Amino acid sequence: MSLMEHTEAMSFMEVFKKMKRLRLFEPVIGVLGFFFVSVCIIIFCLFLFDYRSEPKGPRFSIQNDRFLWLRFNGGYGNQSRKKADILPGNNDVCDMFEGDWVWDETYPLYQSKDCRLLDEGFKCTENGRPDFFYTKWRWQPKNCNLPRFDAQIMLKKLRNKRLVFVGDSIGRNQWESLLCMLSSAVSNKDLIYEVNGSPITKHKGFLIFKFIEYNFTVEYYRSPFLVLQSRPPAGVPAEIKTTLKLDQMDWSSSKWKDADVLVFNTGHWWNQEKTIRGGCFFQEGSEVKMEMRVEDAYRKSLETVLEWIHRELNTNKTQVFFRTYSPVHFRVDDSKSAGTCHLETLPELGSSLVTSDTWARYSIFSEVISKYSSISDLRAFDLLNVTHMSSRRKDGHSSMYYLGPRIGPSSLYKQDCSHWCLPGVPDTWNELLYALILKRHQNIKFTNI
Ligand SMILES: *[C@@H]1O[C@H](CO)[C@@H](O)[C@H](O)[C@H]1NC(C)=O
Ligand SMILES: *[C@@H]1O[C@H](CO)[C@@H](O)[C@H](O)[C@H]1NC(C)=O
Ligand SMILES: *[C@@H]1O[C@H](CO)[C@@H](O)[C@H](O)[C@H]1NC(C)=O
Ligand SMILES: *[C@@H]1O[C@H](CO)[C@@H](O)[C@H](O)[C@H]1NC(C)=O
Repeated sequence: MSLMEHTEAMSFMEVFKKMKRLRLFEPVIGVLGFFFVSVCIIIFCLFLFDYRSEPKGPRFSIQNDRFLWLRFNGGYGNQSRKKADILPGNNDVCDMFEGDWVWDETYPLYQSKDCRLLDEGFKCTENGRPDFFYTKWRWQPKNCNLPRFDAQIMLKKLRNKRLVFVGDSIGRNQWESLLCMLSSAVSNKDLIYEVNGSPITKHKGFLIFKFIEYNFTVEYYRSPFLVLQSRPPAGVPAEIKTTLKLDQMDWSSSKWKDADVLVFNTGHWWNQEKTIRGGCFFQEGSEVKMEMRVEDAYRKSLETVLEWIHRELNTNKTQVFFRTYSPVHFRVDDSKSAGTCHLETLPELGSSLVTSDTWARYSIFSEVISKYSSISDLRAFDLLNVTHMSSRRKDGHSSMYYLGPRIGPSSLYKQDCSHWCLPGVPDTWNELLYALILKRHQNIKFTNI
């Protein structure tokens, strides 16, 4: 006891030295001393956090370079509000896709166990993922703030409207994220249903969820190539099982042409395995191009989609988004595995694990976009430029936790480092979508984004 009274007046270092000395002679006192120092450190930390949440007072700087991207920002305090909000105005200074991931205790926006509209493949926690840090990061743009996602506001803005996702399974990943984000504001879940009664599972075709109270639908059309994949012309060699018509939109386009909000994505199927190796070749007009490379076909398909948007859509009615390539992360440990990402529990500053394929797909997309932008004075769509920001989220993938709660984690060698756990990274894409939809509804012109 007298030891503790005595040490209170001492500096940290002195206590530490004394403790070390004491421990040599007297283990019990050493343990007590250690306990005391631990309590001191905890109190000091609490004090430090408390101090930081004070808007005006001096701040302890833990924002050195290493921490800048892991800022413990304590949610939406006044401190973060110092930046100009993305709403209203301020278009010229804010690139909302440039910024940092910051720790935010108020996240995630929903819990997977509470979301009935989530297919079990994305419920990583239920499938055995032990860590949860990946649900706690909020995207903070460098020069502005995003509005806090408010499902009620979004539902009201979209009353009597249709919001449609078209693309591959990562598009479905984002669609399900939005379903969970929106349904969290609806207390009677029976007021949300799939219009054809289809279950939410891996699915070919399409799924349409209706929010009855708002006469609003959130729809997903599976179309991994966006352009038409169908039977080849008559008389071609037998190795050609199907062709991708690079100059025609997918058959389902007539169904979503009139949507109020359209979110496209593509890219993950534009590779050798999912096309040529499976007997799917490329076709322009009536001609099958046996020699065409996948990259060139991808470029042509993007041009077709952009021209179609420009030509066919009434962009006064339809707000169009193109989500950029969603990065794939692999750490290749040994020759047996394709790569892993299951040990990643934190975001990072760089993007060292992103596959080279990711950047190859991304640059093709960027080229097509900039070429298109230079020939058209008014871009008819907005980008959801998520590739860079998500490349820092190697911690966000389903990894071994995608097989459902009954089967449990997959084998180490069959990891999914493309899809994302929910809640997780796609929620952020939807927060960006939300910000851009709000912006449009407040009749604010886009300049920078
Ligand atoms: C902090 O924000 C709240 C509302 O968000 C406001 O009422 C309060 O005045 C702000 N305080 C300061 C010091 O700006
Ligand atoms: C996407 O955002 C990144 C990061 O801010 C930026 O470097 C890149 O130029 C953007 N790409 C496009 C196509 O706007
Ligand atoms: C519901 O929304 C559709 C458009 O999606 C519209 O045509 C229809 O009139 C709306 N129904 C009601 C009752 O407002
Ligand atoms: C879209 O709105 C602009 C300005 O209000 C108008 O000039 C244009 O004709 C409209 N386009 C269509 C296809 O309705």
